[in-house]
Amino acid sequence: MASSASRRFEGRRVIVTGAGSGIGLATAERLLAEGAAVVAADVSATRLGDLDGRHRGDPLVSVVADLSVAGDVDRVVAAAAGPVDGLANVAGIMDGFVPPAEVTDEHWSHVFAVNLDSMMRLTRAVLPGMLAAGRGAIVNVASEASLRGSAAGVAYTASKHAVVGLTRSTAFFYAPKGVRANAVAPGGVMTNIDATFTSDWGRERVMPYLTTDLTPVATPDQLAAAITWLLSDESSDVNGVVLPVDGGWSTI
Ligand SMILES: NC(=O)c1ccc[n+]([C@@H]2O[C@H](COP(=O)([O-])OP(=O)(O)OC[C@H]3O[C@@H](n4cnc5c(N)ncnc54)[C@H](O)[C@@H]3O)[C@@H](O)[C@H]2O)c1
Repeated sequence: MASSASRRFEGRRVIVTGAGSGIGLATAERLLAEGAAVVAADVSATRLGDLDGRHRGDPLVSVVADLSVAGDVDRVVAAAAGPVDGLANVAGIMDGFVPPAEVTDEHWSHVFAVNLDSMMRLTRAVLPGMLAAGRGAIVNVASEASLRGSAAGVAYTASKHAVVGLTRSTAFFYAPKGVRANAVAPGGVMTNIDATFTSDWGRERVMPYLTTDLTPVATPDQLAAAITWLLSDESSDVNGVVLPVDGGWSTI
């Protein structure tokens, strides 16, 4: 948790998705502690209710939304009630480590809708306000699976590689306009994400690559520290990067 001396986000409004749990929750709470007004979106009403309960009186607006649905994304943007300074696209789901030969169209589409389409739609929605203001910061949560083929199933891996493309494209197009887009690529993080294997071959093939002494499991707060830095003016010349926050996994 940030000290009260650090108020980097005073006067700033930031949308955080996946704010009910794990990395998104830690990010939302750190932003609130640092002075931001936060629009917190999550599909879980229970989790957002808990967040609200801990932050009564804080500048927090919670929106229960399934971000795989375009109309729900619109409701999140409407809840911001105006331009935002930052967008943290954190919400995402795993894919059961399902290999290409076993993935169904439905599974593929759902993983992409949550992990990628939601980020594109939110990015598209906040950009006009950021461009009018001549500044803004977007941070997308990618994954170790953005960097390699051995960290998840095919749908998750492909969607998280695409998150990198979304990030770099956004950074490229709007660098001259004062809007930045960066990504963080977490390794293993202690959260509620469902990391069960639903494929035998997925388990047999991937499991050996997930366990190594070099990659201790991170805390959500460690990710929130990186995400808020990329959202803040302290990273004002950092644009289009994919920052591994993985204890060194990306070096293997
Ligand atoms: N935990 C890890 O080891 C790890 C590693 C690499 C990347 N990531 C990424 O970090 C991000 C956050 O995951 P986490 O580990 O904090 O998981 P988490 O499950 O603890 O939190 C994710 C939150 O997103 C919400 N969510 C899921 N689907 C949603 C939807 N359709 N609409 C709105 N909200 C939805 C969930 O309700 C949950 O509160 C994800 O993008 C994930 O891919 C996690």
